[in-house]
Amino acid sequence: MLAVTEDRIAAAVHRLGSENAFLVLARARALEATGRRVVHMEIGEPDFDTPDHIKEAAIEALRGGQTHYTPSAGIVELRETIAEYASRFRRITPGYGPENVVITPGAKPAIWNTLCALLDPGDEFVYFDPAYPAYASAASYLQAKVTAIPLREERNWRMDLDELERRVSDRTKLLVINSPHNPTGGVLEREDLERIADLAQRHDFLVLADEIYSRNVYFDREYVSIAALPGMRERTIVVDGFSKAYAMTGWRLGYALMPEGLANVVTLFNNNTFSCVATFVQHAGIAALRGPDEPVRTMNATFRERRDRIVSGLNEIPGFSCTLPEGAFYAFPNVTKITKDGRALATFLLEEAGVACTSGSAFGRAGDGYLRFSYAASLADIDWALSAIARALPQFKAP
Ligand SMILES: Cc1ncc(COP(=O)(O)O)c(C=O)c1O
Repeated sequence: MLAVTEDRIAAAVHRLGSENAFLVLARARALEATGRRVVHMEIGEPDFDTPDHIKEAAIEALRGGQTHYTPSAGIVELRETIAEYASRFRRITPGYGPENVVITPGAKPAIWNTLCALLDPGDEFVYFDPAYPAYASAASYLQAKVTAIPLREERNWRMDLDELERRVSDRTKLLVINSPHNPTGGVLEREDLERIADLAQRHDFLVLADEIYSRNVYFDREYVSIAALPGMRERTIVVDGFSKAYAMTGWRLGYALMPEGLANVVTLFNNNTFSCVATFVQHAGIAALRGPDEPVRTMNATFRERRDRIVSGLNEIPGFSCTLPEGAFYAFPNVTKITKDGRALATFLLEEAGVACTSGSAFGRAGDGYLRFSYAASLADIDWALSAIARALPQFKAP
């Protein structure tokens, strides 16, 4: 007899969300096991190898005996390196110090632990829709009162700030923003951030800025972080990490920057969950930030070429229309001329065309009628996928 029956599982578990892309990946792998060709555009991870100098640093750290526990916030040398890098890259004054940095195994636990540190049941939490699923999952788990502001394709997926203004109040505790944005690739402009900063100060709420794609941008102007705007350094939590910029998803290395008092509480959550990030991985992080930046730029130039290819290719397929994303590595075409049921279309494309993508609805209700293609695939695979979609699509029957 099973000892752990369903009724033994905590009721709170039902408030957790999850990432649909991993389910699509499992099905895609099952199809591949039967000999079918599948182009993977479902998972948000760079297909490049981690740059060599980063791998070498980890190997050297392992050989040098860096195999023991570290402080729960992370080793001081990495925190200093991140504080220096983040202050320079984001033009933050006064600059961050190591006391402002908390190291986590990927950016995702930085989000989870920060929300745990801030949200009591009933607290007002505002984010946007569509969104990376981790924010609403954590906030709902913590029983916060969750409000989602729909993002609009006609604004190239930037938040409707009039609507945001109507939906925040003195009761709002925390707002999450994410720029460049997963799943749409949208980027908030300086004037958007200024208006959000003004609202945050007027209503005295905090802002969690998920900037994990801050190095994956395809414009020539400077990247603007809300933390750099006047009065915002003290009320912003910046989440970032190594997964996307350095092709290090499997290493599990991320961090968040925040006021020292909050950093101590987030560190307490680190201490209670994973204790610390693998020591040699933290040393690899130092090498990533101190080493040559060329690999990041080269990967980005490749992403940019792929973006241009997939967006123009999708726009040639009848029924698809796709805005040009300015950041991240996702194309988010509108498919409502074909069907409102993006999930059915995504399933069809995987089963009949061998193209794995994610339904926009996996990122929230406002994603209904869209698909997300991660263009972390070679140009040859992108071309193959575009032809396969165009060939299979006439057979699709909307449910
Ligand atoms: C918007 C966003 N934030 C955070 C993460 C988490 O990244 P990681 O935990 O791999 O550092 C992801 C990963 O897909 C993401 O898309």
